[in-house]
Amino acid sequence: MDRIRIVGGVPLRGRIPVSGAKNAALPLMAASLLSDETLTLTNLPRLADIASMEHLLAELGVHISSPTSSADASLSLRANSIKEPIAPYDIVRKMRASVLVLAPLLARYGRAQVSLPGGCAIGTRPIDLHLRALQQLGAEIELSEGYIKARCPHGLIGAHVVFPKVTVGGTENTLMAAVLAKGETVISNAAREPEVIDLAQCLVAMGADISGIGSDTLHVRGVERLHGATHPIVPDRIEIGTFAAAVAITGGDVELVGGRRGLIDAVADAFGQAGVTIEETTDGLRVRRTQDRLTGIDVMTEPFPGFPTDMQAQFMALMTIADGASMITETIFENRFMHVPELCRMGAQINAHGASAIVRGVSKLSGAPVMATDLRASVSLVVAALAAQGETVINRVYHLDRGYERLEEKLVACGAQIERVSG
Ligand code: EPZ
Repeated sequence: MDRIRIVGGVPLRGRIPVSGAKNAALPLMAASLLSDETLTLTNLPRLADIASMEHLLAELGVHISSPTSSADASLSLRANSIKEPIAPYDIVRKMRASVLVLAPLLARYGRAQVSLPGGCAIGTRPIDLHLRALQQLGAEIELSEGYIKARCPHGLIGAHVVFPKVTVGGTENTLMAAVLAKGETVISNAAREPEVIDLAQCLVAMGADISGIGSDTLHVRGVERLHGATHPIVPDRIEIGTFAAAVAITGGDVELVGGRRGLIDAVADAFGQAGVTIEETTDGLRVRRTQDRLTGIDVMTEPFPGFPTDMQAQFMALMTIADGASMITETIFENRFMHVPELCRMGAQINAHGASAIVRGVSKLSGAPVMATDLRASVSLVVAALAAQGETVINRVYHLDRGYERLEEKLVACGAQIERVSG
């Protein structure tokens, strides 16, 4: 199993290209099922999760092609000869986002059988809100033998869906059902994440009739069919925030090429309070620390436009060497502090209790062997290791490959001493 070895202490300097967003690419790929014409996605990140979704869609019968030139990160998908609308357990268990094929299959073929996604390290990750919304749109849902068996023999009918809590995937599944439903659907308390906006904009490019995009209330008027389109995937705001944390913790100065300030307002505000400037440049965003020592601040994760839960672990790593204390509260997932004991192995002083963790800043971290547990916890260890004195070896780095494209390469280009050790 691959490991990553880092020797910390080098301020990162240079430029890092920001990739397309994993969490936009996954629903966008699923949206290809909604049309029998070709959907081409550009600015596609090359990630393990993307490959998993490609595998699932190919199993379903979607024709997938990508230009041989690696420079052009694009993918063309055409769902004009679907086999059985079944998403099997052995694929879904590897990537929960597979559940995003449920609504498109139901909307296009009138039935779908999708394995119930299990939980994951950060929480039970139920999909009850997805299923309840689809039932409101006329789907008959049966759960048996670990599968969601959904059918709508008379098609989907528009309805008013009110989510009791913000759900990104639930909003995305409901949106993809509504675009081909008969009549109008209103989605209240919809997620406003940039990845949801990106999906809605792509659906509109495919001929869907959606208004209120970017707000918490989406109005969808169903259409008969959707046509093909070409859509550029939005830059990855979590990658932007992650690299900003790496630059800040090492005291570096880096331009994140392709970064957009509007994607990371809450994160940039928190960095600003901590003593890190993120300013717009013609090509993206420039990140640098503006004071000798970072300032400890409190953050609480919230749905967009609040501070993103997917940045909680990386920001905590940054706070471990800040001056003073920082209280970090995780309100989205029930078990997203698994990076805490690993950061403590590196000398951090963190006390997690329930949904909050108190971080007391220390003057330095020390390298140590540590264990990756989930995607964002893993990269928080990379962030910490880049500033730690000495060597850190991170085990189980397959978690990282799910969500970060060419991570070592991008960091080495800015002077980091980081390498992948096979075996
Ligand atoms: C998406 O997951 C992202 N994944 C997650 O990123 C991200 O952390 C999350 O949104 C929140 O922003 C993708 O987009 C592929 P939710 P999702 O539905 O859609 C509860 C990463 O690291 N809930 O918004 O699964 C749920 O348990 C990943 O890239 C229900 O109770 O998240 C959670 O507490 C991790 N019932 C909260 O809502 C449901 O039916 C938010 O979940 C659905 C969700």
